[in-house]
Amino acid sequence: MSEHGSAKPTKGILLAGGSGTRLHPMTLAVSKQLLPVYDKPMIFYPLSTLMLAGIRDIMIISTPADLPLFRRLLGDGADMGVTFTYREQPAPDGIAQAFVIADDWLDDSPCGLILGDNLIFADHLGKQMRAAATRPSGATVFAYQVRDPERYGVVSFGEDGHAIDIVEKPTEPKSNWAVTGLYFYDGRVREYARSLRPSPRGELEITDLNRLYLQSDELHVQRLGRGCAWLDAGMPDSLMQAGQFVQTIQSRQGLLVGSPHEVAFRMGFIDAAGLEAYARRMIKTELGQALMAIAHGEG
Ligand code: DAU
Repeated sequence: MSEHGSAKPTKGILLAGGSGTRLHPMTLAVSKQLLPVYDKPMIFYPLSTLMLAGIRDIMIISTPADLPLFRRLLGDGADMGVTFTYREQPAPDGIAQAFVIADDWLDDSPCGLILGDNLIFADHLGKQMRAAATRPSGATVFAYQVRDPERYGVVSFGEDGHAIDIVEKPTEPKSNWAVTGLYFYDGRVREYARSLRPSPRGELEITDLNRLYLQSDELHVQRLGRGCAWLDAGMPDSLMQAGQFVQTIQSRQGLLVGSPHEVAFRMGFIDAAGLEAYARRMIKTELGQALMAIAHGEG
């Protein structure tokens, strides 16, 4: 274990605030992260991802208006074998503000952060993420090749393949590797987050936090390859595409995508009786029937 290493289990933050202006009028009355992506609320997908990383202590951060709705949907987490803590972000003052909001709760635990509108599917993703979540020191981000890098945080690499720069929404991107909304940090994250100052657009930028790790040569950039899908469901087209993607995989393969209850069962957070109890409440749906089959060892 390194000097920054921590024996503490990795905590997780699910950031689900913002005003969803790119989805108006759908998000005038409902939080974006509660909109359906095919057969589940959007937040189920990033939540499943965090749980797949082995994380069981999770803070949900959202707006004062939306937080009660997340609480109604997710409760205390007992039916998924996890613990949820809820906290408000009064205004969308930046993604990295999540660590300021969570400061006392975090203590000096390592932490994973996922944006509530990011959907990531890949073979072996769980394994890659568990490696990132248990890395004794430094930060890990995931990069994905996109056609429109200027919309994202962009990482560029030197000849030896090491990350050399990371820039938020560059007008002239130096690569087409976008940084996804899934991040893992060691126990120094809250100290680094406290040192951030608002950017010209007035936000505590996640890219500035990542740059601090990069500057101390402790930013690990894991590239996600062709077999991986990264979707952010923040606009009408991408929301629709995400739903169609989930529908295609589920109906073709008969496997569930983004079910936190299935992940809880497979990770050993709940037992078959726990999964069955949840499935029974959903039994009129294909999702409930699929979970029931899994609980009975048929999935
Ligand atoms: O999706 C990955 C990208 O996410 C990264 O490549 C960028 O580096 C990162 O800055 C971010 O870019 P976006 O343009 O997608 O950020 P946006 O402001 O749209 O926020 C992303 C989500 O986080 C959104 O669903 C709302 C939520 N959010 C955002 C902010 C700024 C909050 O809950 N609170 C906030 O203060």
